[in-house]
Amino acid sequence: MKVSVLGAGGGIGQPLSLLLKLNESVDELSLYDIYGGYGVASDLSHIDRRCKVQGYEKEEEMEECLENSDIVIICAGIGRSSSDISRDELFNKNCLIIRKLVNKIIEFSENSIVLVISNPVNSLVPIVCEMFKKRGIDKRNKIYGITTLDLIRSEVFLREILNGKGIYEYDNAIQESIRVIGGHSKESIVPIILNREIKSKLSAIEYERFVKRVQNGGDEVVEAKNGRGSATLSMAFAGHRFVCCLLARLSGTSGDGAGESAYVGLAQPVPGLLHVEYFSMPLEINARGECVGVDSGLLRTLDATERRLVETAVSRVRQNVAQGQNYVSGTH
Ligand code: NAD
Ligand code: LMR
Repeated sequence: MKVSVLGAGGGIGQPLSLLLKLNESVDELSLYDIYGGYGVASDLSHIDRRCKVQGYEKEEEMEECLENSDIVIICAGIGRSSSDISRDELFNKNCLIIRKLVNKIIEFSENSIVLVISNPVNSLVPIVCEMFKKRGIDKRNKIYGITTLDLIRSEVFLREILNGKGIYEYDNAIQESIRVIGGHSKESIVPIILNREIKSKLSAIEYERFVKRVQNGGDEVVEAKNGRGSATLSMAFAGHRFVCCLLARLSGTSGDGAGESAYVGLAQPVPGLLHVEYFSMPLEINARGECVGVDSGLLRTLDATERRLVETAVSRVRQNVAQGQNYVSGTH
């Protein structure tokens, strides 16, 4: 497996590249960054592991960087340095960066699976999909916006509430009990506690606080970093978790990849999500790494509060998707 990381010199790119270097399923790691691509690659190449690492910094090196990649991860772009800035405010700068990179992916690595970490995920994923579409390539089922960080936060925050009440018997069940759907910004993030017995352990106020904490999880880190960026280490862990799920599917070593969510283009109208073209949902991924379905059954199990949260998420995501699509239709 060859994995390329675009933005490898950054706060996320570096620890993510380290985790990928240590991953036994990755044979080749291509690290591109306009600042620091060579350095990170040289650094990682001193770790005695089988995975071959190569660094790139120049535009003319992108062909070699991207060719034959199975997975391309985009974590290039600016992040938030203050919680007063919204992820949507990163759009104007990051759409230019992503556009440049996606043109190269289309040119040199058309068949790769593309993972988008850069923000705002809700608008950048539609940009990537539309750019491929404009070149006559429908690749929606191989483009994933990475929302795994919301999932890992939900798991941790729920565990904290339960343990704070002296409830430990669900520790192992927590991971299977949570899904996060919607998008990756504020109210578009909707955590769902599938296990109703676990949910019943939370009062209405605790549940509301839990949802808000997950939705504002990014702010917690941005504020603690006090002007020095946003989540990087937990994001690298989350990104690697999603890559592991994909690699397992590609090598045929896991079931159906169910459980892991990502923000994807919905191939068919999903009952309950009729008015939105993109949404983060638990996915079914085939052995070619293509998203072949989403767990729409989950939507039938929602209670009234969760349905309201989903409605709000849908309206936010629709605006973000329109922004991305309009950007591509207005460019040449
Ligand atoms: P960072 O500033 O530390 O790193 C970004 C890197 O991108 C830098 O090394 C920079 O040189 C590189 N870069 C910029 N333009 C480039 C280009 N044209 N080609 C190649 N590389 C380029 O930022 P970070 O903390 O690593 O965050 C990166 C992005 O990820 C941000 O947009 C941030 O908001 C987002 N993010 C997303 C999630 C998520 O859950 N999806 C979580 C955390 C951060
Ligand atoms: C996060 O959720 O931590 C990221 O999207 C970064 C941010 O700006 O909050």
